[in-house]
Amino acid sequence: MTKKIKWGIMGCGGIANNYASDLAFTKYGQLAAVGSRSLSKAKKFAAQHGGAVAYGSYEELAADPNVDIVYVATPHPYHMDNTLLAINSGKHVLCEKPIAMNAGQTRRMIAAAQKKGVFLMEAMWTRFFPATIQLRQWLAEGRIGKVLAVEADFGIHFRVGPEHRIFNPDLGGGTLLDLGIYPISFASMVYGAQPKKIVSTVHKAKTGVDDHAVITFEYPDSATAALSISSIVSMKNEARIFGTADMITVHDGFFHPTRLTLEAEGKKPKTVDLPHPGGGMQFEAEHVHQCLRNGKLQSDYLPLDETLAIMQTLDKIRRQWKLKYANE
Ligand SMILES: NC(=O)c1ccc[n+]([C@@H]2O[C@H](COP(=O)([O-])OP(=O)(O)OC[C@H]3O[C@@H](n4cnc5c(N)ncnc54)[C@H](OP(=O)(O)O)[C@@H]3O)[C@@H](O)[C@H]2O)c1
Repeated sequence: MTKKIKWGIMGCGGIANNYASDLAFTKYGQLAAVGSRSLSKAKKFAAQHGGAVAYGSYEELAADPNVDIVYVATPHPYHMDNTLLAINSGKHVLCEKPIAMNAGQTRRMIAAAQKKGVFLMEAMWTRFFPATIQLRQWLAEGRIGKVLAVEADFGIHFRVGPEHRIFNPDLGGGTLLDLGIYPISFASMVYGAQPKKIVSTVHKAKTGVDDHAVITFEYPDSATAALSISSIVSMKNEARIFGTADMITVHDGFFHPTRLTLEAEGKKPKTVDLPHPGGGMQFEAEHVHQCLRNGKLQSDYLPLDETLAIMQTLDKIRRQWKLKYANE
């Protein structure tokens, strides 16, 4: 019989609910326990997802000897403390994006995981979709030549009040950390590097956090990325990669892709559809299972030094915007 990897979910909010549902599509994953600041909320969540053990605190969840790995699904300002709690209890951790508020926190989390000898990864689910794997294969094969430009936009018009996570500085609000990390991580994946020059323009919400921005990156050999992000207008949410021999489009919803088009010079465009059941979080979960089954403490698809480098890029952009969070 296949030995299941037993998950504990920390924080029973929106994305935790999606994750718990998608675990059902994995071969090796099982939801063993959930932790909430409220026992009644944890019980309700557990009942909706097959009757896992429910705890009324994150500490009790972290102490459960039956839990192999904790999925941290709280707002970003809590990611570091929640992750450290789990790591110091000897648990592996998959932490929602952004892994932390800044590079300094990320360094502490990585050091703690390495000291304890446990697995740590940011839950950048985009990396693990079959369509992303296909895209990386095309790039590795040089199907569009040398990449010289990336364009990506991610805009969702959040029709919510200032107390919502996206606008609330106390909950790590701001478009950059919430949505911007997707195109920035995408550019990092395509170029395998961070930009040497960053130029950006930003608009801020009444709460002081960024709600609309355009960011351009420059890499060696004049390669570029042009990224637009917004929480006040909806965008196409597409990504395009332009190479010397042509282009790839990652269609609407590049952050959870199912459709790619390869347009190679002199050839008919080729569109590939890679649909899947569920919401798509099963792919990152199954990747984590594979890492754990192979005794790996980090992912080759999203290594910790890249996660840290992306956080450093986010810090640089925020410095341009003079945007600081509590305790920074
Ligand atoms: N991968 C993705 O596609 C995706 C999508 C959305 C969000 N996210 C990320 O996931 C994280 C959570 O986002 P979400 O949309 O799930 O948020 P959410 O619905 O507000 O849920 C967050 C949960 O965190 C817990 N929490 C702990 N301290 C809190 C506090 N002071 N205020 C509010 N909640 C607190 C709460 O759980 P308890 O009450 O049970 O303790 C809450 O239900 C964020 O970092 C976000 O960037 C990822």
